[in-house]
Amino acid sequence: MSAYPPVKIGILGLGTVGGGVTRVLARNAEEISRRAGREIAITHAAARNLDTTTANTAGIKLTEEGLEVVNDPDVSIVVELMGGCEPARTFVLRALANGKHVVTANKALIALHGNEIFAAARAAGVMVGFEAAVAGGIPIIKAIREGLAGNRLEWVAGIINGTANFILTQMRSKGRDFPEALAEAQKLGYAEANPSFDIEGMDAAHKLTILASITFGIPLQFDKVYIEGIGRVTHDDVAYATKLGYRIKHLGIARRDENGVQLRVHPTLIPQRQLLANVNGVMNAVLVKGDAVGQSLFYGAGAGAEPTASAVVADIIDVVRTLTADPENRVPHLAFQPDALSDLPVLPIDEVETACYLRLLAQDRPGVLADVTRILADCGISIEAFVQKEAPPTASEVPVVMLINPVKEKRMNQAIAAIEKLASIRAPVMRIRLEYLDSD
Ligand code: HSE
Repeated sequence: MSAYPPVKIGILGLGTVGGGVTRVLARNAEEISRRAGREIAITHAAARNLDTTTANTAGIKLTEEGLEVVNDPDVSIVVELMGGCEPARTFVLRALANGKHVVTANKALIALHGNEIFAAARAAGVMVGFEAAVAGGIPIIKAIREGLAGNRLEWVAGIINGTANFILTQMRSKGRDFPEALAEAQKLGYAEANPSFDIEGMDAAHKLTILASITFGIPLQFDKVYIEGIGRVTHDDVAYATKLGYRIKHLGIARRDENGVQLRVHPTLIPQRQLLANVNGVMNAVLVKGDAVGQSLFYGAGAGAEPTASAVVADIIDVVRTLTADPENRVPHLAFQPDALSDLPVLPIDEVETACYLRLLAQDRPGVLADVTRILADCGISIEAFVQKEAPPTASEVPVVMLINPVKEKRMNQAIAAIEKLASIRAPVMRIRLEYLDSD
């Protein structure tokens, strides 16, 4: 075996993912040390409530105080699995200042404070691994940062929140309602401690921020992401989309266009024939378009204890392998050299052009649809498909579903506002953006 002593790891947080990491490191210890070239030992761990942890803590010094772990002189790598921005940010910055490498699964921390954290890591000559922060077990950071490094990347589109995908899948395939599907996702350990992060799109926006930076070589800019969750999507929307040949998925999209970069997270209709449309349940998938590779799809478990641990442990092994490498010759955190990041602007959502699905409830009398189509025509908006659904015999309103050809968001918003002012239409109009995800 290796001539070097074991590398000592300190863990912050022994919840779902922390438990998974202890199990995977123990179960696969022999193969992991053959890969890393050194044995890896967890020697110190901090958790808020040590009585309730299910982690295998045999042989680990335990504390409720995270600072004891980050200040432990024996620990070389701090693995941060607490989630949330504070105190995680304070602990990570302290660990870096103490010259320790950091591995984290914390997407909010990287999306909001990654620029500061990477600068601190660079100053200290240490690494920060964050593979587990995006799409759980799928090695998408490594794939984009290293495997696709020869490409000019054009766009990424991903199902990057397992809970939202689970809920949408249950609504479509089992006719389950929203609260029931969410409760199941929570029971299975997929949902965030605060599930509104999953439902309202915040969690996906954190992950998209990170993906966009490594895709385009831009600083992390969470505050510029357009965010919409799945809370307004109804059973009817799911059913109409299916009838029209589409599926509704909650997508994170980062796309380069001629004026800058689009960063957006929202429910999206995608054609059923796309592989991405068939990613179901808690599974995640990220579709990447590069000029050389074309489209490449990465699929796998996006949440859960051991899939996330798979990514955390891979980062630990990466750090161990490079412990002796010159810091200037390591893979840069954001894929591009830190002094070569681009100032490509992130476009306001008003400037983004997309196709969309509209669902309206219209009074069932002559001339109503003519008013709607006149507004669209006056705004220069063209209709791709139009379906008026039958209303139940006693209803005075009928659902109308339209697919709209690509148009700038600003113009679509003007048209929706004018349609919602019609006395014959019940506001609000439901709009779901639509992406064909073809090659351009
Ligand atoms: N709550 C997240 C999800 C967990 O559902 O995808 C993984 O980040």
